Amino acid sequence: MKVLGIESSCDETAAAVVEDGRRILSNEIASQIEIHARYGGVVPEVASRQHLLAVIPTIRQALDKASTDWTELTAVAVTHGPGLAGSLLVGVSAAKSLAFAWKKPLAGINHLEAHIYANWLAGVEPEFPLLCLIVSGGHTDLILMGGHGQYSQLGRTRDDAAGEAFDKAARILNLGYPGGPAIDRAAKDGKPTLELPHSWLPGTFDFSFSGLKTALYRLSEEGRTGTAGDAAASFQEAVVEVLVGKTIAAARVCGVKQILLSGGVAANRRLREKLKQASPFPVLIPPPVLCTDNAAMVAACGYFRLCQGHIDSLDMDVIPDLQLISKAIAR
Ligand code: KG4
Ligand code: ZN
Repeated sequence: MKVLGIESSCDETAAAVVEDGRRILSNEIASQIEIHARYGGVVPEVASRQHLLAVIPTIRQALDKASTDWTELTAVAVTHGPGLAGSLLVGVSAAKSLAFAWKKPLAGINHLEAHIYANWLAGVEPEFPLLCLIVSGGHTDLILMGGHGQYSQLGRTRDDAAGEAFDKAARILNLGYPGGPAIDRAAKDGKPTLELPHSWLPGTFDFSFSGLKTALYRLSEEGRTGTAGDAAASFQEAVVEVLVGKTIAAARVCGVKQILLSGGVAANRRLREKLKQASPFPVLIPPPVLCTDNAAMVAACGYFRLCQGHIDSLDMDVIPDLQLISKAIAR
C-alpha cells in the first residue's frame, strides 16, 4: 500500500510517499525557516501564504521522487490538527481535492500521532506496550501506547512545551532562530556550569519549564550567564535531565517494553544521548530529519489508521486544537 502524506500544520510544507507504513519512497520538505527568521518566530498569515505557493509543487516532487504515478496510490493522508488553522487549511484542502479527483480514500491525521509513527520508519519494529515521549514546539506529552491507536495520557506540560522553552531560551541568549537547533549547537562548546532550577512536580508525570526559563532570563538581566556556550549547555542539561528522569520513572511504573522518543526536540543531541545512556528499557529514536515536521510520518500514521478501517469523508475539517484521543488500556 502506497500512501501519499501531506503536512502543513506549522511552517513546513511537506509531502511524502510511504509504502506499507514503513518504507519511505520520498520525503519532500519546503521549509519556511528563512522567511520567518527575520520575525524571530512563525507569522501565521505568512505561513499559510507560503503553504499555498508550495503545496502543489511539493506534492508533485514527492510523487516524482517516489517514481509513483497517482494511480498507484492507495490513499491520501493529511494532518488536520493540531496546528495553525490557516496553515492546516492549505494541506487539508489540497488533500481533499486530490482524494476527490483521484477517487482515493482520505485519512485525517493527528499531528502528534504522526510524530509517534515516525518511529515505524526507522527500521526497527516497535513493540507494545510502549511509552512515548513527544517533545515538540507546542507539546510535551508522556503517552502510554497499548497498541495501534490506543493511547492514554500519563503526563503533559503545565506551561511551556519543551521546544517552546528552547526557543525562548535561545532568544534570551541571542542565539538566533530557530532556537532549539541554536542551543544544541552552542551547547557543544560549553559546560553546564550554571545552577538552574529543575521542576520535578513530584507525584505526577507532568512537566513545567516556565520557572527554568524565568531563572535564565533573570541571570541574563544581571549579566551572570557566563559564555553563551555554558549558558546553552546549562539550560539544555536542565531540560534534558527532567525529560529523561520522568520518562524513565513512568516507563518503570507502566512496565513497558520500549520507550519511543519523537517530535522536533527529539533531534536534540544531548537528549538522544542521555535517554539512551540512562534508560534500562530499549529506546527508539527516529533520525533527526524524521523528528522535526515531515510528511513521511503522516503517511506512515495514515497507513496504520487505514489498516484499522479509519477513513474520513470529504467534509473532514481542520481542528486546530485537536487532542490525541485517550483510550484507557488495561495495565
Ligand atoms: O515537531 P516540530 O518540528 O514542530 C512542532 O510540531 O512544533 O518541533 C519544533 C520544535 C521547535 O521548538 C524547535 O526549536 C525544536 O523543535 N527543535 C529542537 C531541535 N531541533 C528542533 N530543540 C532542541 N534541539 C534540537 N536539535
Ligand atoms: Zn510537529
